[in-house]
Amino acid sequence: MVPRYALFGHPVAHSFSPRIHGAFARQCGVAMDYALIDAPAEGFAAALADFAHAGGAGGNVTLPHKVSALALCDDASPRARRAGAVNTLVRRGDGWYGDNTDGVGLVRDLATRHRHDLRGRRTLLLGAGGAATGITPAMLDAGISELVIVNRSPERANALADTLGEPGRVHARDWSDLDALDSFDLIVNATSAARTHASLHLPPSLVGRNTLAVDLGYGEAAHDFLAWARSAHCQDALDGLGTLVEQAAEAFALWHGTRPQTDPVYELLRHELLVSGTD
Ligand code: ATR
Repeated sequence: MVPRYALFGHPVAHSFSPRIHGAFARQCGVAMDYALIDAPAEGFAAALADFAHAGGAGGNVTLPHKVSALALCDDASPRARRAGAVNTLVRRGDGWYGDNTDGVGLVRDLATRHRHDLRGRRTLLLGAGGAATGITPAMLDAGISELVIVNRSPERANALADTLGEPGRVHARDWSDLDALDSFDLIVNATSAARTHASLHLPPSLVGRNTLAVDLGYGEAAHDFLAWARSAHCQDALDGLGTLVEQAAEAFALWHGTRPQTDPVYELLRHELLVSGTD
């Protein structure tokens, strides 16, 4: 029987993940089945249990389940524990092992594909949900000088800053403080505001001479933030497509013990976004 893998999220219908893992599997000569499982928050635990019962070998987790997935794991990697969020599941014995490959995916995309050195960058993180928490340990490890976390609900920003346990380098500020903050060298949008077509109302004073802006989404979801970043003269404005492909490669390596080439898959999907007019 072909080993079964799946992406859990809500919604998941338009995810690129089955295409990415399908391409990796062909490239590496691995047989795998990769399904999309749309589960609302209250149905995630049951959907994951059903999947395990049906012989599921591994999975990816996307919003809104990244934080709750950690609690459903019997064991988890140090980076998943530090992030407080899981995006990759591996079936081990009778339980799930959780990992988080989002942060390493982001850093690999920025540093290797786009040649941006993160060291010393004063960084603004917008959002404190599952996507935001997952990338913070790797960004700190990549040598950013300061991490300012701003979230619509300030208590989540405070909680994330506390969890990271680096009071000298990590600070939570209120959204209403954005006008008063100095410029940043790196601004990461990890909110899901685009899903409800909400505007983030970001002041251009956040942008300095060499600011890199990154949206963790891609296609339509990244459009508004990247348009703001370009109009505010960011040095570079990148979407999350590269991060998506890199985090998937890391998950694939965890499942199959072999690391796929990411560039051909990235180029293919980038071309599709361009052709579809959503890039
Ligand atoms: P994910 O796993 O994608 O991070 P999430 O855990 O639901 O999903 O988190 C979504 C993030 O986007 C949160 O930081 C959320 O802010 P709240 O914690 O206040 O809910 C943020 N967000 C969603 N809509 C937003 C909006 N219109 N403006 C600003 N932030 C928003």
